[in-house]
Amino acid sequence: KPVQLLKGKKLLITAGPTREKIDPVRFFTNHSSGKMGYAIAKAASEAGADVTLVSGPVTITPPSGVTTIMVETAEEMYNQVLNHFDEADIVIKSAAVADYRPAETSDQKMKKKDGTLTIEFERTKDILKTLGVQKKHQILIGFAAETEQLETYAKRKLESKNADMIVGNNILTEGAGFGTDTNAVTFFRKDGTISELPLQTKEQVAQALLSEIDHLLKERSV
Ligand code: PMT
Repeated sequence: KPVQLLKGKKLLITAGPTREKIDPVRFFTNHSSGKMGYAIAKAASEAGADVTLVSGPVTITPPSGVTTIMVETAEEMYNQVLNHFDEADIVIKSAAVADYRPAETSDQKMKKKDGTLTIEFERTKDILKTLGVQKKHQILIGFAAETEQLETYAKRKLESKNADMIVGNNILTEGAGFGTDTNAVTFFRKDGTISELPLQTKEQVAQALLSEIDHLLKERSV
């Protein structure tokens, strides 16, 4: 049986993509499979945490023993996360949330017309940023999926979202990021220290993240 590092702690985690509807048959989304977030949810639950998983649409099965709330859009994810934020001790945002959604959703299937089609997008709410503003006792961990300048952008997110840690993944690295069973991540901590982890399974990344959380919790209790 794994060590009960997180016994008595409430952990809120998001996973998967969001879907932003254009019309009843079409939507915008991304390649997130949910594997990273589900691996963390499973590991945290096995470590004794009371886990709530807010998940976008994925094809994998939620881990047993975890309270799973399925959502579709960024707006729905925002509402569910905000509903559960106050009671959480640890919050991990591994979902790939859409930054934009179609400004209008058509009730009817859009018909083809000659020429090009232009769709106007509007910004969705930034969930992580909102949590950073509302944060009290919570440990707040965000992810950053980047294709370039990982360190610069991850550090910027750490600051601007008032997070305690950012887990950066360069999604162009072979075997890292979306859809794969493995990931190569770098931890960017608030104290400025950085740890670059080797390519390993998402389960191993989840374990490494749990020991980081354990350190953060211990720091707080002194
Ligand atoms: O699901 P998998 O296939 O296993 O892939 C894992 C992953 C690549 C999706 C995951 O490891 C990952 O990097 N998740 C975050 C992806 C992402 O959207 O990164 P971002 O840099 O766009 O967003 C930064 C942070 O802000 C993230 O914690 C994100 O959840 C959060 N965010 C973003 C937009 C928004 N409107 N609200 C948010 O809270």
